[in-house]
Amino acid sequence: MAFTLERPLASTYTRRAACVFKAWLKQPTQVATIFPSSVFLTERIARRDCVRSADTVVELGPGAGGTTLALLESMKPDARLLAVEKTPDLADALAEIEDPRLTSRLGDAADLIEILRAHDLTKADVIVSGIPFSSIPRATAKRISRSIDDVLTPGGTFIAYQLRDDILHFTRPLFGTPHTQFVMRNLPPLRIFTWTKRLQG
Ligand SMILES: C[S@@+](CC[C@H](N)C(=O)[O-])C[C@H]1O[C@@H](n2cnc3c(N)ncnc32)[C@H](O)[C@@H]1O
Repeated sequence: MAFTLERPLASTYTRRAACVFKAWLKQPTQVATIFPSSVFLTERIARRDCVRSADTVVELGPGAGGTTLALLESMKPDARLLAVEKTPDLADALAEIEDPRLTSRLGDAADLIEILRAHDLTKADVIVSGIPFSSIPRATAKRISRSIDDVLTPGGTFIAYQLRDDILHFTRPLFGTPHTQFVMRNLPPLRIFTWTKRLQG
């Protein structure tokens, strides 16, 4: 059975949760959560003007696809979403989302620039990331942050939802201080950090 936009998000949550739990048992540090993001979190991420108006959105760490479905619901009919997931068990679930705007790709956010190039993309208007910056090696976290800065369109938006604020060590020198929202209605409660890339410089 496929995850499709016609099906209400709540009806697929249990299935995604089973998938995430199985993946977490094999690779707990990488998967980083036992529960898929709640609808309260995914809506806070996706229901934004920057997502509604974007031509190209890149998602890093889409997991079993809850955030991906929410982004697709907000995006324009002719926009593109490239979702990059490192955990093979989750990439299988993601591949079941049927939407011509979505390209899901098994890969590592550390190879972001090469992955975009492989899909004929050089820039993204919005980048959404759930990857656990607090548990990946510092050098990799720095490399991913620099790649995000490189591929983000000037004036574009970087959105990261995180349990801890270690990401700020890597992003502050590039993007400055984020706008921060705390989402209580998620297991566990998380913060959403949002940066807008400067138009020049
Ligand atoms: C906190 S989960 C978020 C999953 C999903 N987006 C959600 O909100 O339910 C983090 C995701 O990042 C993925 N991930 C971790 N490191 C990654 C990397 N270097 N590149 C791509 N994905 C990565 C994990 O496999 C996991 O699916």
